Amino acid sequence: MADSLVVRFDALTAVDDVSLEIECGEVFGLLGPNGAGKTTTLRVLTTLLKPASGSALVAGFDVGSDALSVRASIGYVPQALSADGGLTAAENLDFYARVTGVPRAERTARIAAAVEAMELEPMLDRLARTFSGGMLRRLEIATALLNRPEVLFLDEPTVGLDPTARELVWERVHALRAEAGTTVVVTTHLMEEAERHCDRLAIMDAGRIVDLGTPSELLSRHGERSLEAVFRAVTGRVISDEGRISDVRSQRRVARRLG
Ligand SMILES: Nc1ncnc2c1ncn2[C@@H]1O[C@H](COP(=O)(O)OP(=O)(O)OP(=O)(O)O)[C@@H](O)[C@H]1O
Ligand SMILES: [Mg+2]
Repeated sequence: MADSLVVRFDALTAVDDVSLEIECGEVFGLLGPNGAGKTTTLRVLTTLLKPASGSALVAGFDVGSDALSVRASIGYVPQALSADGGLTAAENLDFYARVTGVPRAERTARIAAAVEAMELEPMLDRLARTFSGGMLRRLEIATALLNRPEVLFLDEPTVGLDPTARELVWERVHALRAEAGTTVVVTTHLMEEAERHCDRLAIMDAGRIVDLGTPSELLSRHGERSLEAVFRAVTGRVISDEGRISDVRSQRRVARRLG
């Protein structure tokens, strides 16, 4: 899917020689701390950003030379909230159906299918601003499904949600994959979630992919019991629940001083 992608922002290399092969119908996770380059990688794959070098094919189309075909084949839920709080859920869906070019004759059916997939029926007439975080995420995923994407990109879909809301979002993502065969590419810094919900994972750190495999392959390759430990083993650093990283060595030094 991606071949030797490089993205630079001035002196910073945010994505440094990233290559990925993502299979049809899998839930693929990009796991890494804040600033690892996850969002930047998604922005290249969704045609929003041109790489300095490298290439990528999404749903069989080249992100550089055939961006329109890529866009027609994908759904993208960005990291920042994107639903309009001043509109009801139904109005948000109608708006997205129009802007993503869903043919008028198919709008009602497509909206109904997305509502069913994300279980939004009871809240269609409520203003999005009155939604909980989990409902909002499901509404946003529903808007990204209106063009029946082959590949759905979700940037930190469960960040800031309580455990129940997270489970509901994941349950709907798995149902979508089972029912429509959608390929899902998801970023997260939540190790436990990545381990439970992704078929395969790429661990990213400082723009590079430092390891890749199924959760169980990653654990057994490093002889570790948790992905936290795998991350520490490959990068020498630890990742916090909020996605921040810290240097294991400096932590140990502090611990020694305190002890
Ligand atoms: N438009 C931009 N201009 C300059 N630097 C940028 C830009 N976008 C991202 N960066 C930098 O590129 C690096 C990678 O950022 P990116 O947003 O891809 O990380 P991330 O893995 O998604 O992190 P997070 O978990 O915080 O979302 C960071 O150092 C960031 O500051
Ligand atoms: Mg990000």
